[in-house]
Amino acid sequence: MAETYHVVRDVNLPLIGKGVPRMESRAKVTGAARYAADEPLAGALHATLVTSAHAKGTLTAIDTRAAEAVPGMRLVLTHRNMPALGDLARYTTGGAMQSSFFPLASTEIRYAGQIVALVVADAPETAEEAAKLVRPRIDGVAATASMHVDGAAEPVPVPEDRLPPIRVGDMDAAFAGADTIVEGEWRTPIQHHNPIELWFTAAEWRDGGLTAHVPSQWVTGTRAALATAFDLPVSRVRVLSRHVGGAFGSKGAVLNHTLVACAAARMLGRPVALYVSRSQMFTVGTMRPAATQRIRVAVRDGRLTGLEHTQIGQTSRFDTFFLPGTEQTTRLYAWDAIRADEATVATDVNTPGFMRAPAEVPTLFGLESAIDEAAWAAGVNPLDLRLNSSAAGGDSVSGLPWTSHGLDECLRRGAEAFGWSDWQPETRAMRRGDWLHGYGLASAVYPTYTAPATADLRLGSDLSATLTGAAHDMGMGTYTIVRQIVAAELGVPQDGIAVDLGDSDHAPNSVAGGARQAASFGSAVLDAARRVRSRVIELALAEGRPLAGADPTEIAFADGVMTASDGRTARLSEVVGLAPFGVIEVRGTWVPAAVGMKSVMELYRSGNAGIAGMVTDAYARAAFGANFVEVAVHTRTGEIRVPRMVGAFAFGRVLNERTARSQLTGGMIWGVGSVLHEATEVDHRYARYINGDLGEYFVPVNADVPSVEAILVEEEDRHINPLGAKGVGELGITGVNAAIANAVHHATGIRRRDAPIRMEHML
Ligand code: MOS
Repeated sequence: MAETYHVVRDVNLPLIGKGVPRMESRAKVTGAARYAADEPLAGALHATLVTSAHAKGTLTAIDTRAAEAVPGMRLVLTHRNMPALGDLARYTTGGAMQSSFFPLASTEIRYAGQIVALVVADAPETAEEAAKLVRPRIDGVAATASMHVDGAAEPVPVPEDRLPPIRVGDMDAAFAGADTIVEGEWRTPIQHHNPIELWFTAAEWRDGGLTAHVPSQWVTGTRAALATAFDLPVSRVRVLSRHVGGAFGSKGAVLNHTLVACAAARMLGRPVALYVSRSQMFTVGTMRPAATQRIRVAVRDGRLTGLEHTQIGQTSRFDTFFLPGTEQTTRLYAWDAIRADEATVATDVNTPGFMRAPAEVPTLFGLESAIDEAAWAAGVNPLDLRLNSSAAGGDSVSGLPWTSHGLDECLRRGAEAFGWSDWQPETRAMRRGDWLHGYGLASAVYPTYTAPATADLRLGSDLSATLTGAAHDMGMGTYTIVRQIVAAELGVPQDGIAVDLGDSDHAPNSVAGGARQAASFGSAVLDAARRVRSRVIELALAEGRPLAGADPTEIAFADGVMTASDGRTARLSEVVGLAPFGVIEVRGTWVPAAVGMKSVMELYRSGNAGIAGMVTDAYARAAFGANFVEVAVHTRTGEIRVPRMVGAFAFGRVLNERTARSQLTGGMIWGVGSVLHEATEVDHRYARYINGDLGEYFVPVNADVPSVEAILVEEEDRHINPLGAKGVGELGITGVNAAIANAVHHATGIRRRDAPIRMEHML
């Protein structure tokens, strides 16, 4: 179904988009903002997880006697006394769980670091001490935690009903007619999110109902999972997550430790608070899986013509987690022929999950590196090769038009701001003292996902307003942008608008993931504001009222005053005062046409409503960008620095230029980490991670990225949603890895087809 919207009224544009500082910033820097673990819980007990050292086998015994003898100990929860839970489902099948495997339900050991016990004590130190005394005995067998190792399982194609392969055009003709062909295999490692706020669950049972404080991107889904697990109506479960200290996909679906903590609290009749330690964060939850990109690219007359791309991603033994990366990245250019497939390799790890731009980070590393290699081989400027292959005329896979398409403008504006015209097709040519400099570029893409969303808005005659919704702010600026939307629509001061998010008692919403929230929840907020506005107009225009007879479609709202087209005015406070009790209260809803109203009931039931993805039946939908980077490689040490990055990004309407820029630059910096620093190393003998802590899992520091600039390329998009806004959260990281690999090649002449690229590879 085609969708066209009249976007936010032009009169209000000065506020939408403005770089209003985060409304919670003062609370955050003064420590007043409460994160899940800051909620006071009277009489709480403290819990610690015990995890398996073996990757695979059977738990033959678990000796808990020494642990139980520690003074102050309350409970050791193992598979022996873990109560049975309800029939939980993964998020892929209508539930909210990250993984289908619940460790404490059996004696099966399926990956290193899986939960084997929970220890609960009066004090955290006691729990820690006792946890060390729990003795699991495991009959271990050989295991493989890596797909990039001899003996790894064979790739299995993703079932076609879950992801149809892509077949476009005549592949043989495209390759037969090519003047340049590049073929290769690109590899990316396992990586972990490492948000600074650790995973945590505090559970409190009262009168048979459960309240859980969980750092979460999805309180509605978490509530549904807990209700299923403990056989409660959703109305008896409340999940709270008002501030989140970083999530990046790791706090989306529900993780097993949350269920374990809630079970222990019920058994003990006391609140239980459980921290997952930094090293346990590497195993008890989710991560970015390793992947391989098999790619063949054909070029003819300076244009991209043929693409074969198979992505092989790592999954667990018990779930098929796959990254539909080629589903998005094949659509970047106007290829004559495309063939794309996805496959998975089962390994002995926990089920992988979503980590910032999960699908695009690995696929673009391969694709945008291959295109750079093809440009060099064909003797074409890499910028021109991309511009000559523009898909602006429509998505070459579906044949559908784009709702808006900013890639070419991003490439041009980024190139100009960066100074790409200085690029010369010669490696090792830009030497400054001991450093070899190089330039690289890569395109960025992230699909526009939108999902059903709801929001509640109340406006009082004192012009104070309250906006609530089970949406989330993990630092992206949600509180701030939704307040801007309400203030812009109603012409009331932002200071008078309270925003309360992260509470499952509020209007239900889907996961704040896939960069969908601003576009989806923001549209529900806009709908709420428009409903209030309509109600106010109705009150003001009624017989005998101040604006009686005025044109209802031409009422301007600004500074607490309503102005009709004939010049008459009314004070908004007085008009709201005409409503019963002087309050107007509404629920705003927004449902993408491609999802359908039916999904709204699913949103209320489970929070797992459908999403509209990159392609609907009317449009292709994506945000685009272009990354330009300069690297410097030390000629003697091989050290790699990134002195300068410029990205240009088009993602529909900018809702707040400050928070949008912060999302983008954060993503760009993470892109540096994703290709130069980060890898979760596997000890292949034991199928265990070696560097599960922030001391040895490397991330970029300030010295690595002195200059990062994000250019916001505003687009007018009338088909995405009433706000005209696409997502921005995941876009910034995409393609950065390839841009850097390409710049490393320009600097040194060394091509690396695996990440991370480190100093030892430069010598
Ligand atoms: Mo994002 S990886 O879907 O939080």
